[in-house]
Amino acid sequence: MFEKTSTRTRSAFTTAAIDLGAHPEFLGANDIQLGKKESVEDTAKVLGSMFDGIEFRGFSQKAVEQLAEFSGVPVWNGLTDEWHPTQMIADFMTVKENFGHLKGLTLTFMGDGRNNVANSLLVTGAILGVNIHIVAPKELHPAPEIEALANKFAAESGAHILITDDLDEGMKGTNIIYTDVWVSMGESNWEERVKLLTPYQVNMAALKKTGTPDGQLIVMHCLPAFHDTTTEYGKEIEAKYGITEMEITDEVFRSKYGRQFEEAENRMHSIKAIMAATLGNLFIPRV
Ligand code: CP
Ligand code: NVA
Repeated sequence: MFEKTSTRTRSAFTTAAIDLGAHPEFLGANDIQLGKKESVEDTAKVLGSMFDGIEFRGFSQKAVEQLAEFSGVPVWNGLTDEWHPTQMIADFMTVKENFGHLKGLTLTFMGDGRNNVANSLLVTGAILGVNIHIVAPKELHPAPEIEALANKFAAESGAHILITDDLDEGMKGTNIIYTDVWVSMGESNWEERVKLLTPYQVNMAALKKTGTPDGQLIVMHCLPAFHDTTTEYGKEIEAKYGITEMEITDEVFRSKYGRQFEEAENRMHSIKAIMAATLGNLFIPRV
């Protein structure tokens, strides 16, 4: 079910489901009543009686939790305003493919430090023992309860958490630089974000600040990315604010450091694993 648009998550769930032998159905924002003419609870009960699992992408975290509570089938969170958990499995899979291990690495997120992807990286890294730096202006730091949750996990895993607006401090010793759009789906405050986040763009100067030797540094982006003006939004932003790149420069995006397309492909492999793990009785033959 997709209240918000998607390229990767929708395609990954669809192809992964087909590979596993399942039959996916797509329900978009204008296809069903969800929340508008029918409660989430009632919708969940109906869908749960017909489908074996439900992926939900939308605005409200409460909606995905209610679907899980009332449908009686596995519910996979394909992104809400607060979290993007399936992205995390692909992301840390990509990190492990590149470094061979996770513990002790440092991942620095630059940009809107309180969006769904930043929240998810902070908490997932803390669980896995990956040091997480959030480098963002003070106005866009994670909410205190998200930071507290990350600190709780970090105390167990040994991960080091740093939330700062200081670029030098935040970039130092980084192995993975990660960024995401400055304005997420459902938001529209471009002017404020361009002003606040321009100093936090992922560019070659930011990469230099890490001091990390080549071979020990990669750049990730969950995509979609604004790295040029080939999109309608990109053109609009250039006309209004005179910039041709936003969260990441085209130079870095296309450089030897970029792993965003491997990361995107890993959405499919990891989502296949997530579905097999949670519906294993359907997909994994008994031996
Ligand atoms: N990264 C990601 O979730 O992409 P989509 O919005 O295209 O699904
Ligand atoms: N923060 C972005 C992630 C897109 C995958 C958004 O919510 O639009």
